[in-house]
Amino acid sequence: MIAKIEQLLKEVEAMHASNAEELEALRIKYLSKKGAINNLMADFRNVAAEQKKVVGMKLNELKTMAQDKINALKEQFENQDNGCDGVDLTRSAYPMELGTRHPLSIVKNEIIDIFARLGFSIAEGPEIEDDWHVFSALNFAEDHPARDMQDTFFIESHPDILLRTHTSSVQTRVMEASQPPIRIICPGRVYRNEAISYRAHCFFHQVEALYVDKEVSFTDLKQVLLLFAKEMFGADTKIRLRPSYFPFTEPSAEMDISCNICGGKGCPFCKHTGWVEILGCGMVDPNVLDANGIDSKIYSGYALGMGIERITNLKYQVKDLRMFSENDTRFLKEFEAAY
Ligand code: DAH
Repeated sequence: MIAKIEQLLKEVEAMHASNAEELEALRIKYLSKKGAINNLMADFRNVAAEQKKVVGMKLNELKTMAQDKINALKEQFENQDNGCDGVDLTRSAYPMELGTRHPLSIVKNEIIDIFARLGFSIAEGPEIEDDWHVFSALNFAEDHPARDMQDTFFIESHPDILLRTHTSSVQTRVMEASQPPIRIICPGRVYRNEAISYRAHCFFHQVEALYVDKEVSFTDLKQVLLLFAKEMFGADTKIRLRPSYFPFTEPSAEMDISCNICGGKGCPFCKHTGWVEILGCGMVDPNVLDANGIDSKIYSGYALGMGIERITNLKYQVKDLRMFSENDTRFLKEFEAAY
């Protein structure tokens, strides 16, 4: 019996299979119910009592070795199948880190959330636009400097096509496609031909809001602005409106909020004035309503637009605009707790 086991041990040790079928044949030969090892197990009964211990140990050794060997061969075939020599190429080299939401997305979502509670719904439009939707339909005069190549990126082969310089273009797309009541908020990326520095970039993000209905007044606008400022920057925030000019609104204003960094006392951020500008706004110019198929004798509206980078700077004091587009995870991680 011992000799038989020794013989099988040698066989098993030298076992070799060049494909899965051969391996299966080996498994049947040695490990199946009627295989060589089980046959020996059956003979074990006849072994003399004083030899049982030694033979039993040898038999177990044989069985374990056969199982290990078959498993090892099997594994080898499986790895050979993907041609990677035992290396699992689907395994990531480093544990994957969970990303964080971008600060501009955090602030954009906050702005959207505030306006959504006031009944505004989101509208979007293309970033590659035509002159009509960005300028002409918004009452820009033929010779307005914004139309200049120095401010706007035009598509060389087609001077009518450009990268939108503001999200006000979405206003025109919505007005031409629908009738009041219109109450929309348009977040998006805009492009301007600016030299890149810590305070300017050739692209940035804006949120535009537009409300058109019967009897919409400046008072409505002011109330929404005040609510927005308090929700965004805290209940103590004050606002002030300064007269301004935009081709698409009349009257137009720029809105300042009391500096949320020094609380209005004056600091380098607000240039010691206690106020910081955050957005442009006004009553939609009747010319714009009419140009976009809305009867200005029946309807009126207000509009406002702000830069998301600016609001984010105010909330989080990011001193260099370029940080927003560098994707440095050390910077991005700082906003982990903000949402
Ligand atoms: N489109 C303006 C800009 O890019 C911002 C703006 C000002 C939008 C006044 C408005 C508005 O809707 O009423 O500077």
